[in-house]
Amino acid sequence: MRKPFARIAGVGSAAPDFVITNADLEKTLETSDQWIVERTGIRERRKLRDDESQTDLFAAASRDALTRAGVGYSSVDTIICGTCTPARRLPSAACDVQARLGGGTAAAFDVVAACPGWLYSLTVAEGMIASGASRHVLALGGDRVWSIVDQGDRNTAILFGDGAGAAVLVPATDDRGILATSLGAEGTLSDLLYIPAGGSDEPPSTQVVAEKRHLLRMAGREVFKVAVRRMAQACHQALGKAGLRAEDVDLLVPHQANLRIINATAGEAGVPLEKVMVNVQHYGNTSAGSIPLALVQAEREGRLQPGMVVLLVSFGAGFTWGAVLVRW
Ligand SMILES: CC(C)(COP(=O)(O)OP(=O)(O)OC[C@H]1O[C@@H](n2cnc3c(N)ncnc32)[C@H](O)[C@@H]1OP(=O)(O)O)[C@@H](O)C(=O)NCCC(=O)NCCS
Repeated sequence: MRKPFARIAGVGSAAPDFVITNADLEKTLETSDQWIVERTGIRERRKLRDDESQTDLFAAASRDALTRAGVGYSSVDTIICGTCTPARRLPSAACDVQARLGGGTAAAFDVVAACPGWLYSLTVAEGMIASGASRHVLALGGDRVWSIVDQGDRNTAILFGDGAGAAVLVPATDDRGILATSLGAEGTLSDLLYIPAGGSDEPPSTQVVAEKRHLLRMAGREVFKVAVRRMAQACHQALGKAGLRAEDVDLLVPHQANLRIINATAGEAGVPLEKVMVNVQHYGNTSAGSIPLALVQAEREGRLQPGMVVLLVSFGAGFTWGAVLVRW
């Protein structure tokens, strides 16, 4: 097994205070707590208030991660933000976070890969450290998913929430760090989960908004099947690259989209459920925020100890997917 190039020195996360329960959704949608819990495992999710920003979450998660890593903000030379819901179209979310954290001149850019955005960020960060281009990278992931959800569509409005997370990556000095990564995408499947308009082909207009074409559309059943297959493959590929097997995994932290998807993926990846981190019941699907939110909770609950083999895996719109294998 090769020596790791980069180590995750600290992780942090942040979610809004405002909670929306299934009972709240029952008041506006033709749905029920029982249906949502049975089909998804979700009981509640968080939502940013109108006067709050996703940048608030990224800044809070970053400060948390920097403190835990023992790295000063002034040492950060690169900020990478995995998000598909930047606070505004220009500049990047990463530049807004940089300004909020105290400025400076670190390189700052976004990675758009939907839900696996944080795993894509970690992989880019690892590569920049391996090449010597960077030494201290702040790799963020998160989304304000409520901003792209049609709140009147019961197919999607029950699933999502807002949240964010951050990691500080530094050069590895021993066998702890990122052991292997496996990213993939299948752009021909974009119709499974997409936003029809609001981009440069068809910029926002009153017509786009009236037709709700600036909001998410999803083919849920198809997404489910591709998600399980691609996440299981990504797990096997990352393990194979590192010369490890499913039995070597101490903790699997999958994208928190749906409890049934999590269970099916763990089964196909060969990881027993007692080694799987689940918090989808409290946050729903927070897109790129989901894995760091779960990882940080696992660490705070004492489920994550130095030296453990941790497998992170995700999927999302694109279609995109990714796995990152870490010796903690
Ligand atoms: C969306 C999802 C929960 C739906 O669950 P499902 O078991 O596939 O349910 P179906 O879509 O087959 O719908 C079953 C029935 O429930 C109904 N239904 C759908 N949403 C409902 C809701 N919120 N409340 C009550 N009933 C609902 C459907 O209309 C359908 O009714 P019918 O049988 O009369 O036609 C599931 O497909 C899923 O999680 N897919 C993946 C989505 C995802 O993770 N997206 C994010 C990717 S990052």
